[in-house]
Amino acid sequence: MKYVIANWKMNLGIRESVALVRGVLRSVQGRDVLPTLVVCPSFTSLAEVNKLVTRTHLKLGAQNAGLDRAGAFTGEIGITQLEDVGCEYAILGHSERRHVFGESDELVQQRLKAVLGSKLTPVVCVGESAQVRAAGKAESTVIAQLKQTLGKLSWPKSKPVLIAYEPIWAIGSGQAAKVSDITDMHAVIREFVQTHLKVSPERVKVIYGGSVTGANAHQFLREPEVDGLLCGGSSLKINDFAKVISAACEVIEAQT
Ligand code: PGA
Repeated sequence: MKYVIANWKMNLGIRESVALVRGVLRSVQGRDVLPTLVVCPSFTSLAEVNKLVTRTHLKLGAQNAGLDRAGAFTGEIGITQLEDVGCEYAILGHSERRHVFGESDELVQQRLKAVLGSKLTPVVCVGESAQVRAAGKAESTVIAQLKQTLGKLSWPKSKPVLIAYEPIWAIGSGQAAKVSDITDMHAVIREFVQTHLKVSPERVKVIYGGSVTGANAHQFLREPEVDGLLCGGSSLKINDFAKVISAACEVIEAQT
C-alpha cells in the first residue's frame, strides 16, 4: 500500500478547494487500485470538502491538530472538532510549523499524544536543513528529532506509525532529494521507529515530501523503501497531482 497525501497549506478558498477535490475525484474515476489518498485543505474548507469525499476513496486530513480534544487554546483547532468535521488524518510537526511558528519537539509530542488518543492517524514530519546535511549530520539529526517527538508514546494497534521525511531544503524549492538519499534515510527511520516503539516492521510507513511533481513521483514510489508521498505545490495543480496519483497506481499495479 502506498500513500499520496496532499498538503494545500494556506491556499485556496472554499470554492477553489471544492473544485480541486472534484478534479481529484474525476482523475481517479474507473480505477480499481488506488493508493491511500488524503487531502489536507485549510481548516476553513474542511467541512465543505468533507461533504464531497464522504463515501469516496478520498480521505480528509488536517494540517495540524490542537493540543487537546477541546479547551482554552485560542487559535487552535481541537481534536474533537477535527473528528467532528470528518478528518481521519492530521499532519504534525511540519517544517513550516517548526521553523516559522517555533513548534518544538515537545510541543509536537503533546499534539501527537492527543491525536493518538483520538480517531485520527498522525503523519509526523521530520527533516534536516541543508547545513546539517552538508555537515554529514542528516541522519543523527532526524533520529534525534524522532526520539524527542515520539518519546515513549505507545501506539494504538489500529494506527500505522506514519512518518514523513521532508528535508527542509527540498520543500518548495523545486529541488527534490536524490532517490538514494531518500531510501537511505527511510531505512534509518524505519529501523529506529521499529526498535524505539517496539512495533512490527509492517506497521511503520515512511513517506517522502519535498518538491514532488508528476514528473518525479514514479522514481520515488517504485522504491520499496518509499511508502508514499506528501505533496505541497504539486497537489494544488490538478494536472500535476493527477500524474502523481497515476504514478502511485502504476506502481501498485506493477507490484501486485
Ligand atoms: P512541496 O511541499 O511539495 O511544495 O515541496 C511539501 C510539503 O511541505 O509538505
